[in-house]
Amino acid sequence: MATSLEKILNSSESALTLLQVLAENSFDSILVTDASAAGKIIYANKAFKKLTGHDQVEVLGQTPRILQGQGTDKKVIDRLSEALKTGGRFEGKAINYKKDGTPFIMYWRVLPIKTGKKITAWVAIQREGTTV
Ligand SMILES: Cc1cc2nc3c(=O)[nH]c(=O)nc-3n(C[C@H](O)[C@H](O)[C@H](O)COP(=O)(O)O)c2cc1C
Repeated sequence: MATSLEKILNSSESALTLLQVLAENSFDSILVTDASAAGKIIYANKAFKKLTGHDQVEVLGQTPRILQGQGTDKKVIDRLSEALKTGGRFEGKAINYKKDGTPFIMYWRVLPIKTGKKITAWVAIQREGTTV
């Protein structure tokens, strides 16, 4: 099993197709940002649009901060900022807002994508939580 997966992943074209199919069909929302301090969105999947109401193309170049608002717990975001600074991972819940302003509980993870030791991107897996 692992050997066949390795075979597919060894061709960069197949690896990319595999990742695209996984991401586009995931029930969870997936967001990828570049590694800049601002964290500009370079990819959002279909489930992101379903969860937040934001069109995938319209969020490219923006930051995930667009999801935050008055009710967003600053302590949770501080913890995320710390993980971004130190190259660590984050998991947490906070109030976020859909495009139409509807608040909801975001439950998400943020992980660094590294090439060697260098962080090249950040990826988030997001879903609607039930309790903060
Ligand atoms: C990959 C990634 C995904 C993120 N997803 C969310 C999110 O779903 N909700 C949220 O409130 N903040 C999210 N953020 C955090 C904000 O983009 C930003 O990093 C955070 O608010 C800290 O920056 P600031 O102190 O300038 O606001 C995400 C950040 C990254 C890098």
